[in-house]
Amino acid sequence: MGRAKGWRAGGSWTGNSSQAEKHVGVKLWVGLGRPAWGLYSSSCDLARLTHWRSFWNSCGKEWRKGRLEGEILIDLTLRAVVLWQLGRRSTITQLREKYRDVFTIYLGTQPAVILCGYEAVREALVDQAEAFSGRGHVAILDPILQGTGVAFANGKSWKTLRRFSVATMKNFGMGKRSMEERIKEEAQCLVEELRKSQGSYLDPTFLFNSVTANILCSIIFGERFNYQDTQFLRLLNLMNEVLIILSSFYSQVFEFLSSILKHFPGPHTRLYRIIQEMENFTSENIKRHWKTLDPSNPRDLIDSFLLRMDKECSDPETDFHHKNLIHTVLSLLFAGTETSSSTLRCALLLLFKYPDVLEKVQAEIDRVIGPHRLPALEDQAKMPYTDAVIHEIQRFIDLIPFGVPHLVIKDTDFRGYHLPKDTTVYVMLTSVLHDPRHFEKPDVFYPGHFLDAEGNFRKHKAFIPFSMGKRLCLGEGLARSQLFLILTSMLQNFSLGSPQAPEDIDFTPRINGLTKLPSVFQLSFLPCQGGGQGMQTPSESLHPAPTSAHNEFVEVS
Ligand code: HEM
Repeated sequence: MGRAKGWRAGGSWTGNSSQAEKHVGVKLWVGLGRPAWGLYSSSCDLARLTHWRSFWNSCGKEWRKGRLEGEILIDLTLRAVVLWQLGRRSTITQLREKYRDVFTIYLGTQPAVILCGYEAVREALVDQAEAFSGRGHVAILDPILQGTGVAFANGKSWKTLRRFSVATMKNFGMGKRSMEERIKEEAQCLVEELRKSQGSYLDPTFLFNSVTANILCSIIFGERFNYQDTQFLRLLNLMNEVLIILSSFYSQVFEFLSSILKHFPGPHTRLYRIIQEMENFTSENIKRHWKTLDPSNPRDLIDSFLLRMDKECSDPETDFHHKNLIHTVLSLLFAGTETSSSTLRCALLLLFKYPDVLEKVQAEIDRVIGPHRLPALEDQAKMPYTDAVIHEIQRFIDLIPFGVPHLVIKDTDFRGYHLPKDTTVYVMLTSVLHDPRHFEKPDVFYPGHFLDAEGNFRKHKAFIPFSMGKRLCLGEGLARSQLFLILTSMLQNFSLGSPQAPEDIDFTPRINGLTKLPSVFQLSFLPCQGGGQGMQTPSESLHPAPTSAHNEFVEVS
């Protein structure tokens, strides 16, 4: 059978373990060539590396313990895949060609089911939404989060926290000041800040992080921070560091070697110190909220949570406790800052690389919004080309290539396979967003994917950068509004310049792990009257680039 080497439905493994060992042992030799190190560099627990035989014996034990059900035929070439590699589309494409849309890989001795392509992902996350709604473990985070906070909780606790977070974000987004107002305000602060740069080259990473974090801060903490505020800057730097560690190769190795690595110092110890500092920052803020809390007038998400804590303080089973508050705040900040910020950075890079697309977007901004008023969400419906471009940016960059791990919360039959409760499931969003069965030019930046023959915006069912089902990104609406309002505000006011020629812009991500972090780059933002002035190429550039490694292509005028 060419497809999923998983658990066969309803089957229970009755074979004799020595036969299985022999079979897999041969595959091991053929598949990897170098038994011990081959396994080490792939996905095996270090403790079991002394000899491949002892490795395999231990796998046999897992089977005998009945952890895995059904007949398992593991092609050990699959074991050579670690998640870090899975983030690469070429790896996924090769595995998919061989094993089709559902297969199993081993992270150490832990099986993880991989889902590829729109149909398989939809069948799991939507058709069997409840079964696939668990959140999988992220080994490096488990010791700190311990299943708390909206993004990593499970069961009743997750349902409560999710319902609370969605409702509260809606309340504080729809109340006195709508979410749209908050984004517009922040977009204008960004425009002012970019104006101050007077067209010199800058790396917009930090500014974009500030903007996206501030929108969340106004909902969570009830205040936005000045871009120069030292505490805010520290918070942003810490978040950035966390993301770099989480997306690193080390973090993926930690997934299957945690039992050993946790005893030694390493990036995980740094991670724990950083998160501790962020927790302290949040705790201090919560204390200030307590002191000034007015039950009749909750100001933000923290106030609302504190009121629920107060109301349910006599219930020992309550999910409204301090740890859940801190980790929900941090989950929202993490999940919502770098994702939107990286998308904005990639958007500018792509628009700079494809000047014809940029010109059309700016022409549409000129036509629909003009130079004298702020972009509004209602403009989006009249700007099909810009809408299509934003969708295509998100599709093309596939920011979170293998999603965030899920778990099946009960024994589940899926496409003829039996997945025991608590099996980890990775949803390869990258394989959906670049699925040749759904996108005409999957690996090309082509806004036409989202336009019909008349130039109207057309939806695409395989457009799922926010995933689908019950764990669907909680900030999807906010993220989409931000992308539209912030991008159009920038392009309405500035033309772009870069020390690099468009054809030299390289999209290879700086880090390709849990999320893809775009490379560091510099752009200039030159004020323009009413947008529409497209971009500046190096030879047209009016401003010399700062002395940095990036200015080697610049022709100083
Ligand atoms: C372009 C921006 C964004 C992208 C591409 C994105 C994508 C994702 C993805 C793929 C997931 C995992 C879904 C799953 O488990 O199947 C997720 C979860 C999540 N996202 Fe986003 N996201 C973005 C922005 C935001 C923002 C602005 C927020 C702010 C509130 C946010 C909050 C969350 C939370 C809390 C979760 C966990 C949901 C849960 O476990 O129930 N995201 N996001």
